[in-house]
Amino acid sequence: SSYRTARAGVSAVAHQLLKNEFEFEYQTKVDGEILLHLYERFGIEKMASMLDGVFAFILLDTANRKVLLGRDTYGVRPLFRLLTDDGFLAVCSEAKGLLDLKTSMSTPAKITAFLPGHFEVFDLKLTGKVESVQMDRFHCCTEEPKHAAYNILEGLGTGFELETVKSNIRILFESAVKKRLMAHRRIGCLLSGGLDSSLVAATLVKLAKEEQLPYPIQTFSIGAEDSPDVAAARKVAAHIGSEHHEVNFTPEEGICALEEVIVHLESYDITTVRASVGLYKYKKYKKTNACLLSLLNQAPSPKAAAEDSVRLLKELYLFDVLRADRTTAAHGLELRVPFLDHRFTAYYLSLPEEMRVPKDGVEKHLLREAFKGLNLIPDEILWRRKEAFSDGMTSIKKSWYSSLQEHIESEVNDSQLEKASVQFPSNPPTTKEGFFIRQIFEKHYPGRCEWTPHYWMPRWIKATDPSARTLSIYKPNKDQ
Ligand SMILES: *[C@@H]1O[C@H](CO)[C@@H](O)[C@H](O)[C@H]1NC(C)=O
Repeated sequence: SSYRTARAGVSAVAHQLLKNEFEFEYQTKVDGEILLHLYERFGIEKMASMLDGVFAFILLDTANRKVLLGRDTYGVRPLFRLLTDDGFLAVCSEAKGLLDLKTSMSTPAKITAFLPGHFEVFDLKLTGKVESVQMDRFHCCTEEPKHAAYNILEGLGTGFELETVKSNIRILFESAVKKRLMAHRRIGCLLSGGLDSSLVAATLVKLAKEEQLPYPIQTFSIGAEDSPDVAAARKVAAHIGSEHHEVNFTPEEGICALEEVIVHLESYDITTVRASVGLYKYKKYKKTNACLLSLLNQAPSPKAAAEDSVRLLKELYLFDVLRADRTTAAHGLELRVPFLDHRFTAYYLSLPEEMRVPKDGVEKHLLREAFKGLNLIPDEILWRRKEAFSDGMTSIKKSWYSSLQEHIESEVNDSQLEKASVQFPSNPPTTKEGFFIRQIFEKHYPGRCEWTPHYWMPRWIKATDPSARTLSIYKPNKDQ
């Protein structure tokens, strides 16, 4: 064959559907082979937009002397690229993999994250030089997929009547989980005890029974034994009947792991680093595939909520998704994210803004409403307020956040912070924690501060510190 894929994780999601629909004859058992058939038949743009899953691909079309790159809509699969002015191209799933390349240029070449939902075409000149000739978006996270192998509204009720919408949400959610059930490896689930992961875990267990999977579904929670999240996860696991495992996590372990986490993450975003430390402990559980993510947060007005959820979705690859991928992939886990299913998000974002906003101060009201009265998860969990992953997992007595602050207070003095903007003129840290994290980042990746374009912060929240516990939307239930 004149084509070769270097890395393509189409994640088993739709390749069978497409394969059957177009009657492709496979020569291998690799799911990525679908790319070669689709590319040959439809060309790069249509090929990319037909893929319903998470992927990053490098396609070499030797007959036409082209190199093609592409990355999934939300950037769940990582892809970094380096292109020098004199036509040297290198790509890698981690930025650090491109650091030590010897190029003929005198200044270090810029390493950039490949934009999610885009593809790029390069001409391979006879001289051996590579030139970018096309960069286009094939899919945006707020749109329905253009060339999906299915009709997005198939099996759904029409109109915005509450009962119809609730039923549609359930159908799409279940189908999103079902698609991700196919795996060669045993499937497990991160269970934080929050709404999203509990719904995923419960649906997973239900489907596994229906499909008669030969093993029980494992769930994993992480945190101090007396943390609110671990207690909530325990309740959910007992309710749904999963094989539950608790990974104990102490602030001391978190502090020890910080440097390693920052090296893996390749980021100095405070929220991302803080929240990654816990996930990182999953290295004990290499044999499982994991799934989780939380998406749409609370905002003061419908308009702001709508705009901000779109922005946050578009930037997931810089923060949440980056964290989830790095901290799991670093230990050979494969992450699957039902909440980032195309059909699910496109449908959710197509609903009238008033339906999607928080009601009575409860975020994700519609999602909760959709699963009300079904006994899928315990009622107290269905209506439980969000604990940010980084904070809910540590002991109520002393949070990860305050332990970390205490440690940093002894490591960074006031005069260092005062001079921070001189030392780090781009994205200067404004807190000791930011300074501490940035120092570690610069130690390993000097001059690469553009890898984190800005700090994560929901725009509509008036706060200078993104720590979840200091944000009003994360306030614990009064009855807890
Ligand atoms: C603050 O820490 C830096 C780096 O360790 C040190 O050089 C400096 O003398 C300290 N300044 C004060 C006022 O303690």
